Amino acid sequence: MDNTNDIKTAQAFASSWNNLPSGSVYTFDQFEDWFLPLGKSDIEGRDVLELGCGNASLLVHLTRWNPKSATGVDLGDSVTTAQANMAATGYSNFSIVKGDLVQYSGSMKYDLVYSIGVLHHLKEPMAGFESVLRNTKPGGNFHCWVYAKEGNALIIYIVDPIRKVVSHLPWWFTKYAVATPLSALYFLYAHFITTLHMSFMPLYRYSQWIGKRGFLFFRHVAFDQLVTPQTAYIDKKTIEAWLKDERIESGSAYIIFRNGNSWKFGGRIKQ
Ligand SMILES: C[S@@+](CC[C@H](N)C(=O)[O-])C[C@H]1O[C@@H](n2cnc3c(N)ncnc32)[C@H](O)[C@@H]1O
Repeated sequence: MDNTNDIKTAQAFASSWNNLPSGSVYTFDQFEDWFLPLGKSDIEGRDVLELGCGNASLLVHLTRWNPKSATGVDLGDSVTTAQANMAATGYSNFSIVKGDLVQYSGSMKYDLVYSIGVLHHLKEPMAGFESVLRNTKPGGNFHCWVYAKEGNALIIYIVDPIRKVVSHLPWWFTKYAVATPLSALYFLYAHFITTLHMSFMPLYRYSQWIGKRGFLFFRHVAFDQLVTPQTAYIDKKTIEAWLKDERIESGSAYIIFRNGNSWKFGGRIKQ
């Protein structure tokens, strides 16, 4: 499969991930929230794989749950910062691999494979999901998070058309001339509607979530959204169809609507 578009996407993300302070960009609470319904007992003593690890912001927190091993795969140059961020945790049984997650097949299968914020940026999101299933061992868990089509009208009709233009411009222009003022506006909007409990306003639940963080995190998210040349907004029906895969143990699948504008989903592979 031609992965030219995914390489462009990964390189665009590297301009985001390689220009952050060292360590995780997320708080531990955010990490836990992204993983729910999975928790420490699903990680402890397990071999874990992250497909599309960025600068290892999630893996860094995951080491606190004592996995047996932790592997991150990313196609972009962010693997350099991922490596440094993981080394700084003191956890030693990790490896960061530069490669295309769609084609990735490790020397073993993993107890848990997760992909957070990645599938919706692939040329073929379903091919990414196929890799998640393929790399999970029988009896193992998989877990994904994607942008939803539902609840994202404001982003789809306002932010996405801007992304289609600015993702072709130099990253520093996108970061400082576009993402910075746009995120400043959204920062004010988010605090305004949540302080006044205006739950009928677009992105209300998401604003409650992101409103716990400072402006720099708002800008990081805005820049991440604008810098990528490829984004899909995935509806529940599509995920339901993916989860009908015969490799998945019946009754194990879950789909959770998160913050009113994204989907977490996962399950277990049959023994
Ligand atoms: C929004 S970031 C998410 C990073 C991380 N999962 C997190 O939540 O912090 C998406 C990541 O997917 C990576 N990516 C995109 N396409 C890829 C591919 N085909 N193979 C591997 N990584 C890919 C990008 O380089 C980028 O680091």
